[in-house]
Amino acid sequence: MPAELSVIEKAAVVVGGGFWKTHAAPGIRSVLITDGPHGLRKQEGGGDHLGLGTSTPATCFPPAVALASTFNAELVERVGIALGKEARAEDVTVLLGPGVNIKRSPLCGRNFEYFSEDPLVSGRLGAALVRGIQSQGVGASLKHFAANNQETNRMTVSAEVDERTLRELYLPAFEMIVKREQPWTVMCSYNRLNGVAAAESHWLLTKVLRDEWGFQGAVVSDWGAVDGRVPALNAGTDLEMPGPQGDSVTAIVEAVASGELDERVLDASVERIRALAAKAGPATSGYDVDAHHALARQAAEESIVLLRNDGVLPLGPTERIAVIGELARTPRIQGAGSSQVNPTRVDNALDQLSARASVDFAAGYTLGGRPDPELRGSDLRDEAVKLAARSDSVLLFLGLPERDESEGYDRTRLELPDDQLALVHAVAAVNPRTAVVLTNGGVVTLEPWHDSVAAILECWLLGQAGGAAIADVVFGGTSPSGRLAESIPLRLQDTPSYLNFPGEGDVVRYAEGIFVGYRYYETVETPVRYPFGYGLGYTTFSYSELRVGRDRVSVTVTNSGRVAGKEVVQLYVSAPPSGVRVPARELRGFAKVALQPGESRSVTISLDDRSFSFWDVDSSSWVIAGGDYSVQIGKSAHDIVLRATIRRASTRPSHPLTLESPVSAWLAHPVTGPLLRRTAAKEAAEEGGADVLEMVGSMPMRRLLRFPGVEIDRRQLELLRRVANNPVVLGVARGVARLRSTIARSSD
Ligand code: GLC
Repeated sequence: MPAELSVIEKAAVVVGGGFWKTHAAPGIRSVLITDGPHGLRKQEGGGDHLGLGTSTPATCFPPAVALASTFNAELVERVGIALGKEARAEDVTVLLGPGVNIKRSPLCGRNFEYFSEDPLVSGRLGAALVRGIQSQGVGASLKHFAANNQETNRMTVSAEVDERTLRELYLPAFEMIVKREQPWTVMCSYNRLNGVAAAESHWLLTKVLRDEWGFQGAVVSDWGAVDGRVPALNAGTDLEMPGPQGDSVTAIVEAVASGELDERVLDASVERIRALAAKAGPATSGYDVDAHHALARQAAEESIVLLRNDGVLPLGPTERIAVIGELARTPRIQGAGSSQVNPTRVDNALDQLSARASVDFAAGYTLGGRPDPELRGSDLRDEAVKLAARSDSVLLFLGLPERDESEGYDRTRLELPDDQLALVHAVAAVNPRTAVVLTNGGVVTLEPWHDSVAAILECWLLGQAGGAAIADVVFGGTSPSGRLAESIPLRLQDTPSYLNFPGEGDVVRYAEGIFVGYRYYETVETPVRYPFGYGLGYTTFSYSELRVGRDRVSVTVTNSGRVAGKEVVQLYVSAPPSGVRVPARELRGFAKVALQPGESRSVTISLDDRSFSFWDVDSSSWVIAGGDYSVQIGKSAHDIVLRATIRRASTRPSHPLTLESPVSAWLAHPVTGPLLRRTAAKEAAEEGGADVLEMVGSMPMRRLLRFPGVEIDRRQLELLRRVANNPVVLGVARGVARLRSTIARSSD
């Protein structure tokens, strides 16, 4: 097909035809590509990529921050199906989401749009959303590829990330989703990665994404992310958005003429865009607005995380309840920016609560930009305190005003607004039966008010049906089953990226490496207020019968309480010491299970080689270090309830010994090690003193020969090296070493 097009026609195809549409060409129809991850944002006519203008009404589902807390892939897939239906009904071919960037810092202004600090949660739930969307004949756009973990200087900053950290933390969610679901598009991010613009990174967009992971779709740029259209094409960016961009077309035509751009590269991108457009089915007649609202409510209910409850929840319908907080009346249902949806309707919590019990309301504070002409802040607080004092219990709605967090900028603090901090202390002082209901897209610290309230519900941003969901949970219509997909630290200073977020100037160093979130807190034993994976319900669960096979683990979960509930079984793996720095444990599987009171169920979670591997930069491959791995069932990353051991053999590629190899490698080698140690031990017995071999361990063997007193010469060493590298000798030596360690263990 592309061969029949002229170069200028091809050049036009690889640049958008408008703000939200691709460019038509003979045999290639123009299709609509538009936001967003938790609801359709379709703009008629012009458009903007910041959610400033209005858009066609659509269901506003809970954003990723909330969906992640469900830990329920089946439910998230159903949300994806609904998103696909709504996009299809509006003749949209690609829906720009999900965003699966890792939450490196709780300060990132766009964390509401991302799932987790953990790549498995991000990958599993992101894959479910993509599967759902694409099941309706609508493409997803996996974003933002890659290492787009802050909003500060997002279009120019260079994320300096070592390869192991990229492979083990920032890429796996993308990798899992590409390999499992083949999203129709992947969106390359604004930022630079190790100095190279993502849109121009051949390593990222071609070597990794296509050659290694087998991505077959089209790479679309983030809006305005392309600087040089020709370098971006050569790197693998198939479509520049938005369009049209006359200078890009001219640059492409000139580059083909000059030979800077091989026309076959252009043809490949044109073909991917043709294939994408060809997938678009006809628009459908519509969708069930009420059914989608009901689904949004169910998703919101399962997103709510009960953090603390001294028994005040669930509330009884006959209690005199004070509902305090403007957020109960004016809910924040989503984050600001390109993902912003124009909801088909909104349930606010105050109305939903009033329909179930007699409640009185006091605003308590303003949400900024909403000055209350009659009352000033302290008057609002005084009025709220008086109401609290005369009520049986208090539902205190606190959270982040819209201006505090958004696409385009990051936060600078974790605390709630000062007027709300003053309010919570004043209310709790007059009524100990105070339950705080939080609304926030990014994590807030619960200090110093945490101990002064009776209950805390983390509700994140719950979408258009959040108010009804909160009422259902508060009155016990459903038992909260959300779990934290990100840690809640005590202080900003405790966060692993604290000294390197958002970086200096146009460089941000990911100096903490893979130690993000619980991977950091659990390894360095820094206490947090609530750990990853944590969440309470109105019932309790117990665990028993942990059984471990080579590639699966099963455990029995029992609802040991008096009401129905859902538990999230979490499977962690803790690797043995191996000379490679690894986290205390890493999540390697999870499953959500619904149980009636007294009911038990056996839950099985699969493991694969990757569950035990680290990225070996020397061999550029996934490697199992080998040894005894601890398989752990946790109620959170911190609360491990059952453990077992799995032994896995090393798959470390044996690097043949050379004279450049360090002395330590010669010592670790099953052939040369015993020999050298015996020689050194004899000498040390004569001379005594420190362990000489440890002192010279990092020295290249060739350099050791240059020191007087070393009794082995280069010729002998070269002979020893050849023997040691002989596969047969090596195999025998390894067998003997294994036999020795088995005997040693059995005698322990
Ligand atoms: C925005 C966002 C991206 C969005 C796009 C179109 O800047 O980064 O997520 O899909 O532009 O609005």
